Amino acid sequence: MCGITGYIGYRDAYPIVINGLKRLEYRGYDSSGIMMYDGKAMNLSKTKGKVADLEFIVNNEEKRKAGKIGLGHTRWATHGVPNDTNSHPHFSEHGDLAIVHNGIIENYDTLKKELTRRGYTFKSDTDTEVLINLIQEVKKNNKCKLGKAVQIALTNVVGAYAIAVFDITKPNELVIAKLGSPIAIGVGKENSEFFVASDASPFIEYTKNAIYLEDEELAIVKVGKDIEVRKIMDDSMVDTNIQTLKMSLEQIEKGGYDHFMLKEIHEQPKAIIDTYRGRMLPDQGIIKMSGVDDHLAKFLNADRIIIIACGTSWHAGLVAEYLFEDMARIPVEVEYASEFRYRNPIVTSKDVVIAISQSGETADTLAAIKLAKSKGAFVFGVCNVVGSSIARETHAGSYTHAGPEIGVASTKAFTTQITVLSLIALKLAKEKGTLSTSAFQNYLRTLAHIPSQIEQLLKIDDTVKEIAAAYKDAKNCLYLGRGFNFPVALEGALKLKEISYIHAEGYPAAEMKHGPIALIDENMPIFVIATNKGHYEKVVSNIQEIKSRSGKIIAVVTEGDTQVKEIADHVIEIPETLEALTPLLTTIPFQLLSYHIAVMLNKNVDQPRNLAKSVTVE
Ligand code: F6R
Repeated sequence: MCGITGYIGYRDAYPIVINGLKRLEYRGYDSSGIMMYDGKAMNLSKTKGKVADLEFIVNNEEKRKAGKIGLGHTRWATHGVPNDTNSHPHFSEHGDLAIVHNGIIENYDTLKKELTRRGYTFKSDTDTEVLINLIQEVKKNNKCKLGKAVQIALTNVVGAYAIAVFDITKPNELVIAKLGSPIAIGVGKENSEFFVASDASPFIEYTKNAIYLEDEELAIVKVGKDIEVRKIMDDSMVDTNIQTLKMSLEQIEKGGYDHFMLKEIHEQPKAIIDTYRGRMLPDQGIIKMSGVDDHLAKFLNADRIIIIACGTSWHAGLVAEYLFEDMARIPVEVEYASEFRYRNPIVTSKDVVIAISQSGETADTLAAIKLAKSKGAFVFGVCNVVGSSIARETHAGSYTHAGPEIGVASTKAFTTQITVLSLIALKLAKEKGTLSTSAFQNYLRTLAHIPSQIEQLLKIDDTVKEIAAAYKDAKNCLYLGRGFNFPVALEGALKLKEISYIHAEGYPAAEMKHGPIALIDENMPIFVIATNKGHYEKVVSNIQEIKSRSGKIIAVVTEGDTQVKEIADHVIEIPETLEALTPLLTTIPFQLLSYHIAVMLNKNVDQPRNLAKSVTVE
């Protein structure tokens, strides 16, 4: 995690670096720092807290802002608690070199002991300070330039990194390297300036030309000179692949909303259309997805599909289990990537593995993909971030096209993942003949209607606010759902936990009687999904069981429901749709509810404590 950014060129670097850090804060926000080189000295400003706290410090002293070269970092602590000293950038002991780093140096302790033996002392508890001193030591011993020193040092490192390094004795260049953590280099006109960042958002208004380094690549950027990219391990030169970015500035700004999360909740109708546009062709009665079409036989002949993911993406995977099994009759297993990668799973070349990840950078999912590939499985990615590590590591895939998701709590990523997975399930069902043509056509027509139904649903904001006000002080909440909506119950509970810090559990409704029912009393709000299809009567019985134990019932029902309305304390109506598509609607009220509760409790909605958007550590 952590966000890194940097600039070298003809503009004042400070505004670029500080604004870049604000855009990267989703990656970590427990401390931050900036190094500005003013032509003579490297001026360092660091603090525990948010980028706004750093800005406050820097604003008090003009000198801290001067210079055309800068490096910045926003941190999600791994080695060393969040404090001023452990914040990046870090300098080498001699004070010539500065580094910002995203990742973990796993063998830092061994390296530190060796460097200590050679007389180095350390100010911080970080692995990053060890790395910059290792680079200094290599540079001194080999009497080489910075690029070479970084390269040699990295061959001795075990772990993950995206780094940018500056050397005061060569102030015309930056050295950038990557293994496991993402890094993009923005390229200015005729190489007159360069930007470095964990993703392209910090430099999108300056250049649309970017290079995404691959693992084990190192780049040397010098103002006015061609970029040099090399393989770290064998020193071979790599052709620079400059891509044209499609991202726009509006996509990464709040656009009038108070929080990114609210903006992203409201973006879902458009995001879902973007997801199925050009793929779902109801007039022709087909679904076109090149990633699937090109490997159709793999899917159709698969013994089973194994879905690997983490967090919200894992919940989307659970929805997919219901979709694939119900529609396409293919056996599915859904695995937490973090468990899968370490439990010696049985995977064969007859398995298709689907890896789901918004960021495309989640370390556990990435490792699980590598494991599945090593066992011969065909691995298909469902990612949002174009060009991300997971998108590149998988054999094929489909992007969700949700646009940048910046709020740490995932919203539009979830619904667009479900959309992509629904399309794949429908496509396979059609190919296998497990769904009749008329049922298939009906799904396409109904799915095409979902975005306008979400628009309609988003208007219930006032009802949701009333419910939020009534239950915002609850200490514990239960979320219940069945079938396709069991994963939505899990996701509803996760959303509440993440941003309001209220303890919440999701359960299959019928499991309640096997334990959670003991928790129910008059103080316990229970959110139940009771849509008119999918075991409605059975869920109504569960609601009765809650009622007779005095629990507070907040039910999500289908428009026109009368039965649940009579029993529940509150109801939220969703428009009528096909049962398999209900998760795309039932999840919306839960997103809004968590959002409003967190706002009412004065929590930091977009940057909840201890979390980060992109979990690039195990
Ligand atoms: C929850 C959330 C996390 C992520 C999880 C996986 O709102 O954002 O649980 O879903 O860290 O992240 P990706 O999808 O980027 O692999």
